[in-house]
Amino acid sequence: MAAITIFETVASMRQAVDAWHAAGEKVALVPTMGALHEGHIALVTEAQHHAKRVIVSIFVNPTQFAPHEDFKKYPRTFDDDCAKLAAVGTDAVFFPSVEEMYPAGFATRVLLLGPAAVGLEDRFRPTHFEGVATVCCKLFTQSRADYAVFGEKDYQQLKVVTRMAADLDLGIKVVPLATLREADGLAMSSRNRYLSAEHRALAPTLHHIMQGLAARIRNRDELYKAVADAQNAIITAGFELDYLEARHAETLGQVTSLADGPIRLLLAARIGSTRLIDNIAV
Ligand code: PAF
Repeated sequence: MAAITIFETVASMRQAVDAWHAAGEKVALVPTMGALHEGHIALVTEAQHHAKRVIVSIFVNPTQFAPHEDFKKYPRTFDDDCAKLAAVGTDAVFFPSVEEMYPAGFATRVLLLGPAAVGLEDRFRPTHFEGVATVCCKLFTQSRADYAVFGEKDYQQLKVVTRMAADLDLGIKVVPLATLREADGLAMSSRNRYLSAEHRALAPTLHHIMQGLAARIRNRDELYKAVADAQNAIITAGFELDYLEARHAETLGQVTSLADGPIRLLLAARIGSTRLIDNIAV
């Protein structure tokens, strides 16, 4: 297995990317916070379909965590991550320090509207997308990649970053990839490792309830009633529900029936101290 190249500085990454571009090679970036699972590896494989060179960034971005969130305990498994990435032929890992990304005096944030301000994740994590967009904007311009691959698991994030890349003419194409699931339907996530055995067994219920809701909406059941029933089923199953909503799949705006456009179901729920998010198409 070839050893993987690790860039710790923007300058070293850019030097390699410039050489690849000069050789006529496209470059794809897969932004991650590490703790990689099969879902991330699928993003790398997708990136390899678009570009000859693939860089995976591993950076647990402090600006997207609120003070009470899990920044400190977020799993950090760098050696294991590099081994997994090397095994699938990733060209390089960008592994910057916090100081490299946010040097002393750093004072800029990306201000977001549109899909970042629709009352879903943004209602419960009001500063989250500002941090995500700021770091992604930096990663895109730092890497000068042609493509960036994002999973649909973080659906609102995907929409926010896609909008930002277009609005700010960042010159990068955001490529979405469908959520990878465990055999029982649970969406793969780095945070699943926080789940106790009991909570892990319960977690796929969320996906099953969403599937039932999608079927009812497709069958033209009254949307408001179908969503309310699914919300109650989640609470009855033992979750603390932040939201379960049917939204327009592109704008994430409100919908009242299938006639309003393609619908996406989005949810966030807590079990114990773990917060799970998921979404499916109707
Ligand atoms: O989805 C994630 O892992 C993070 O939000 C991202 C896109 C790497 C930005 O830190």
